[in-house]
Amino acid sequence: MSRKKTTPSHNKISSISGNANQEFEPYEPFNPIPWPVIALTLALAVWGIITLLGETLSSDTPSQQATVSNTVENEVNQDNNAQGAELFLAHCSSCHQQNGAGINSAIPPLKNSPYINADPEVAINIILFGIEGEINVAGRTYQGRMPTFGNNLTNKQVAAISQYLHEQWSEEPIAIQPVQVAIERERFATRTRPWAGGDELAAVFNIPHAEQELTPTPSQEDE
Ligand code: HEC
Repeated sequence: MSRKKTTPSHNKISSISGNANQEFEPYEPFNPIPWPVIALTLALAVWGIITLLGETLSSDTPSQQATVSNTVENEVNQDNNAQGAELFLAHCSSCHQQNGAGINSAIPPLKNSPYINADPEVAINIILFGIEGEINVAGRTYQGRMPTFGNNLTNKQVAAISQYLHEQWSEEPIAIQPVQVAIERERFATRTRPWAGGDELAAVFNIPHAEQELTPTPSQEDE
């Protein structure tokens, strides 16, 4: 005990002399953090939580936030339709290919397709309902099945993809809004089947070049 009470200078001397190891105590004799510091830290933490909670409660109510995001949700970006490109890659490119070339006689091309060089309602309705039946594209006849996407994609998503198709492969790219998709859904609300090939599409929609390829009218044959 008497050695523990030695002054620091004595300790120093004993450590130099090699006796310090026997005296070494690994425990701090008192708490190194003074209690006022602990109290202040706690007080700051509590203040921070109260401030955060207060800001959360005073900010816009959920319904106000939803209205804002719906407004944003309702527009396809016309300058940079990144969503359209992304969705095309995810849902369409496995069949039609990223460059829209299609696959031999199995999948028709989107490039130079009369169904894209037509009113936007055509692309929208093909995406919504799909196609099952013979269809003629760029001089070739296809007899496959294009899946239905109406149940899996929102109006905004269908609009973004349709706009992307027009941006990439139509002569006159146009902006397509989600409300146009909503109108088409409403127009064909009772429809449950895919379009029955090019004939039905041509009969329902105005598809200038497709009609000529499928069934030339007598006047055209006369030319
Ligand atoms: C599983 C393969 C497959 C996928 C995925 C697919 N399609 Fe198709 N698509 C087809 C086939 C096959 C046809 C031709 C239908 C037929 O032969 O009856 C077609 C036809 C079309 C046509 C009309 C013909 C033409 O070439 O212009 C368009 C437009 C079209 N698809 C767009 C799309 C878009 C947009 C997507 C993504 C949302 C998509 N397709 C996803 C297989 C697919």
